[in-house]
Formats: sequence, C-alpha cells, structure tokens
Amino acid sequence: MHWLGIDIGTGGTRALLVNEQGSVVAGFTAAHEEMWMEKPMWAEQRPQNWWDAARVAIAGVLKEAGVSGSQIKGIGLSGQMHGLVILDEDNSVIRPSLIWCDQRSRPQVDAINRAVGKANVMAFTANPVLTGFTLPKLLWVRDNEPRNFARVRKMLLPKDYIRFCLTGEYATEVSDASGTALFDVINRHWSEPMVERLKLDASILPAVHESTDVTGFVTEEAAAATGLAAGTPVVGGGGDQAASAVGNGIVEPGIVSCTLGTSGVVFAHMEQANYDPQGRVHTFCHAVRGKWHVMGVTQGAGLSLQWFRNQLAPDASYDQLTAEAAKASCGAHGLFWLPYLMGERTPHLDPAARGGWIGLTAKHTRADLLRSLLEGISYSQKDCLDVIEQMGVPVERVRVSGGGARSEFWRQLLADIFAKQVATLKTQEGSAYGASLMAMVGTGVYSSVPEACKATIREVSSVGPRPHESQRYQRGHEVYRAMYPALRPVYGLISNLA
Ligand code: XUL
Repeated sequence: MHWLGIDIGTGGTRALLVNEQGSVVAGFTAAHEEMWMEKPMWAEQRPQNWWDAARVAIAGVLKEAGVSGSQIKGIGLSGQMHGLVILDEDNSVIRPSLIWCDQRSRPQVDAINRAVGKANVMAFTANPVLTGFTLPKLLWVRDNEPRNFARVRKMLLPKDYIRFCLTGEYATEVSDASGTALFDVINRHWSEPMVERLKLDASILPAVHESTDVTGFVTEEAAAATGLAAGTPVVGGGGDQAASAVGNGIVEPGIVSCTLGTSGVVFAHMEQANYDPQGRVHTFCHAVRGKWHVMGVTQGAGLSLQWFRNQLAPDASYDQLTAEAAKASCGAHGLFWLPYLMGERTPHLDPAARGGWIGLTAKHTRADLLRSLLEGISYSQKDCLDVIEQMGVPVERVRVSGGGARSEFWRQLLADIFAKQVATLKTQEGSAYGASLMAMVGTGVYSSVPEACKATIREVSSVGPRPHESQRYQRGHEVYRAMYPALRPVYGLISNLA
C-alpha cells in the first residue's frame, strides 16, 4: 500500500508517494502560474490553477510509480498558509486568492486593532494580527469589493480548497487555522470573540480538525479527475510550515528547523503554548495533537534568489548562482542584502520595509552581490532564531530543508551565522513528506506523529560553525541589525509616495 502527500506551495504543487516503511517511492511537481502582482507588495494566485496543478501532480506521481489509485490508503495535505479563498453559494471561487505575502491590508489591520483592541487580539488568538494573515485580507475584500464580499459563503485556506475539490468538505485543521487571526490558538477552536466583535458570519468558517483526523473521502468526481480511488480518506494535514516540521522531525523540544523556500522559516516545537509579548514570532498549533509551535518568518528568502535570477541572470541555474556566491569572500567586502522584498515579518513586523543592497562600491562583483544575498537571508533567519531563543525555547541543533538546503555552501553559511550545528535529513521532502506521514498516522499505521517521525526520519549529514567565519558573521549580523532601524523612516517616506 501507499500514502500520498500533496503540498500546495507557492511555486508549484508537489505530490509525493511513500510506502509502508515511510520511504519515498516517487514525487511529481506541477508548476503554478507566476504570482500576479498588480502593485508592489500585492500578490495573488488563482485557486483553480492550484487544482489544475494538483491534478497534474497526482496523475504524474501515480504514473511515475506505476501505482493505481486503489493502492493509496490515505492522503495528507499541506499548503502555503494564510491565503484567502472565498467561495459563493455555487462553490465558485469569487476572486483570485490574496496569498500569504500580500501586504495590502494595513488599513484593515489597524481597523481590527481599533475594533477589538490590540491586547485583546493577542489574548484571543495568541498573536498580533498581521497584514499577511487571512482575516485582514477578507476585510480588504469587504472594504474594497463589497459586491464580492456579499457573495461569500465560505472562506478556505489554499490547501483546504484542494481538500474541497477532492472531498467536497469545507474543512481545515488547527495548524493552518492558527494563521488566520480568527483562531483561538490556545484552545484550538475558532475564536468566538473575534468573530463577534468584527460582526462576521461564523457560518463562512470551515470545520476545524486536528491534523491527523480524517476530514473526508475522495468523491467520484475527484476520482475521475485525478486517478485516485473514490472513498480514499483525506486527513487534515498542516500548513506548509507545520507539515515541513513533521517531515523534518521537529516534534520535540531542542531540535529546530530552518526551511528555505520562497519564504524562510525557523520553527520550534513547544509542549506548552508560549508567546513573544511583542508578537515578533508566531505561536501556532502544531500538527502534533495537543502541542504548539513557534516560528519566525523571513518573507523574502528563496524569493530574493528567485528575483535575482529572474531579473539579473535568467539563464543561470540556482546551483550556478550559489557556486558563484561561494567564490566571493566571507562578508562580501562589506556588502549587505536586506531581503525585505515583500515587507518583513520577524522581527520587524513591517509591511512597508523594502529590500536592497547597502554598502555597494565600484569594486563589488556579481559574486559579491550573490554572496551578500545569501548572507542577508541567513542573517534574517538568525534574527528569527534569536527571538525564539530569547523566549527560552531550547535550540540544540538546526535541521535545514527546502531548496536552499540543497547547497552545501549555504548550509555551511547557516552553521557559521547561526553558530549552531546544522543537519540535513535523508528525506528532504519537507512539507509533502510531513503530509504523507500524517496520512499514515490518520489511517492507523502509526499511533502518533512523533512515533511516525521516530520510525522514519534520519539525519545524514551535519556541519558545525567554523570559529573564524562565525566570529566575522557575528560582527556582520550586528551591522545588519543596525540597518532596518536606520532605514525605517525612509520606508515610511517611500510608502507615502506610492
Ligand atoms: C508561514 C508563511 C509561509 C507560507 C508560504 O507563516 O507565510 O511560509 O506558508 O510558504
């Protein structure tokens, strides 16, 4: 028998098949359309495009493995978090999704804080409300597209739209619901006071499950569209970060992950819910039943490299670009990259922050530009790690995953900048793998997520900080940290221009 994990990422949808031992049998990725950015800091994708990609990825992985739908015992879903999918009474998607990195909803965040009170938002949801979260996006639609808002019957998150397409159920699970700003993270249910104080219709919210619960079964229609068998159970799964944490075995205190995808996330498990009083990191429910996690997010991690490649080196591969970065020297001759291409979350919580190089001279080469870019992303991830450690969360070692982890050079850079041991895993499939493990738990192969992780996840390599470089990067990080406060007034001036 086999289990299927499906991850609805930003760049594409990945379907991954695992066998009874939890070993990967095959994987297939179908690319998404580029995100649509009508204005700076706006970002939309079409949910129908995710479903098209999911169908291609599912059919592709079945074909590649030579496995039929009836050999799949369970399905787990994972996906980019926070995106707003709204359906009308005919279940049609009303407008494209405002996705996780869309920053347009500042007025709505201010309005929520005025209506509910900042301290109350924190008490009700364990987090401040941020422009990237789902609730202010919904209110942006209410304020700017009243006709669209009047048609809303259901609000779903990206992977839960795919769940709806597969099973016909309106459902989500605790880890993804945590990123909506409408969820009582401590008690693991929708927040009634948030819904009431904002005069929202609670019936638009989907049912919430724990991540390994079965939420529905593949319908005849979805079976015909994908090659899956009707009746196959679909478990809750997780937001991509919680799912990636499961795929990396971040299910106990002490081991922390760093996932370098479009965004960059430092993620730690928590036995008890604890939060940063300044809200610089998110406290969300974990995909492990009854547990929580804390995570810090760099908005423009892999996105910085993707932007560089698209704009400045369209013919180069990512491997070529990281190899070029490795040719420049440590610190890139005093050049710094600020990765704030879509504002920044941790630690600044500032949608108006902007990216750029600081310290450029006529001597700098393209290799320096690239090296500073990787260093800047890593400094930003170090900012996340620092806040997590300041909360008293133990960090003994860091497991890296995502596209960025493929580069040996970047792994060493992270070890030097974090001043920690950095490990990689045998299975580097992150979110899709975590989703398939949750499907195995949900269908009874393992009794819990930690048990599944213990049976399947192995570290294969580990690299430690080099003392000389690590010291230089510590000084570099201090300089990096001085830049945002100095530039903050300028960011304000820029956003007033726009
Ligand atoms: C997490 C977050 C991103 C997206 C896209 O809070 O916004 O990681 O889930 O990967």
